[in-house]
Amino acid sequence: MNVAVIGAGTMGNGIAHVFAQHGFSVALIDTNPASLDKGLATIGKNLDRQVAKGGLTADDKAATLERLTSFTSLAEGVRTADLVVEAATENVDLKLSIFRELDQHAPTAAILASNTSSISITRIAAVTKRPAQVIGMHFMNPVPVMKLVEVIRGYATSDEVTQRVMDLSRQLGKTPTEVNDYPGFVANRILMPMINEAIYSLFEGVAGVEEIDTVMKLGMAHPMGPLQLADFIGLDVCLAILRVLHDGLGNPKYAPCPLLVNMVTAGRLGVKSGEGFYSWA
Ligand code: CAA
Repeated sequence: MNVAVIGAGTMGNGIAHVFAQHGFSVALIDTNPASLDKGLATIGKNLDRQVAKGGLTADDKAATLERLTSFTSLAEGVRTADLVVEAATENVDLKLSIFRELDQHAPTAAILASNTSSISITRIAAVTKRPAQVIGMHFMNPVPVMKLVEVIRGYATSDEVTQRVMDLSRQLGKTPTEVNDYPGFVANRILMPMINEAIYSLFEGVAGVEEIDTVMKLGMAHPMGPLQLADFIGLDVCLAILRVLHDGLGNPKYAPCPLLVNMVTAGRLGVKSGEGFYSWA
């Protein structure tokens, strides 16, 4: 089975990695050659880590890399795809334009999935001529480690396509969970208010950064505190998702904390900018 992954960033290279590791032929596509090289280098490094930990053999690594090809042209990369997973930047206009192109260039029978963390699958599907074959396949970061795939059914997604994507996710060693297409789906509808509340606790002086994270790590057995996790996800991404929840559900409880808005405006985006709630420089 041929899989095409659009976008070689953190999520895209992780998704390409797990499909190739589990025996699928994967075309990794990014219009920026530098991003493509960086994505392929990251896959190599993450496979090395798996080999060093004993989870994979050196032969598994070589076979995984052999199943990977790369393209800077979307039209060429998706030409023989049975499944396309789009993992481009989280921007509505960009995703709509990618799906219009995918609809033109991918085989008519291909399933078109998006790794979006909050953009409506129904809206994405509506720009294609195959809305029954459009679905959300939301992986969690780091993709090679996290077990969940949130499978999101758009309004028109067929039962058959949903079943195929649930089965494919199991073939990757993941546990898929079927959810319906409403703002934030399930993962971010629950995660983002928790992160926002942690930021409010800091903003209102209830406790400091380390204290808030320690309470949630040691008190609730979370692997990372919510402020550290927000730095990993990217504060701009957290803000964008909270705005989707706020606009889409119309409830003031989803309003982003003013401290989060200020930090994003000031370019403090977390790990990727070197500074967020913690210093990552
Ligand atoms: N590729 C391959 N393997 C990796 C990896 C990667 N990128 N990153 C870590 N690993 C492996 C390590 O090799 C290690 O393997 P073993 O268990 O076999 O030794 C294992 O993962 C644990 O890694 P570490 O020991 O280095 O570090 P850790 O114990 O601190 O765990 C973590 C790291 C798994 C990321 C953990 O901190 C964690 O679970 N954090 C929370 C992650 C999370 O919540 N993700 C969801 C974010 S939300 C999202 O993605 C969706 C959205 O829409 C916003």
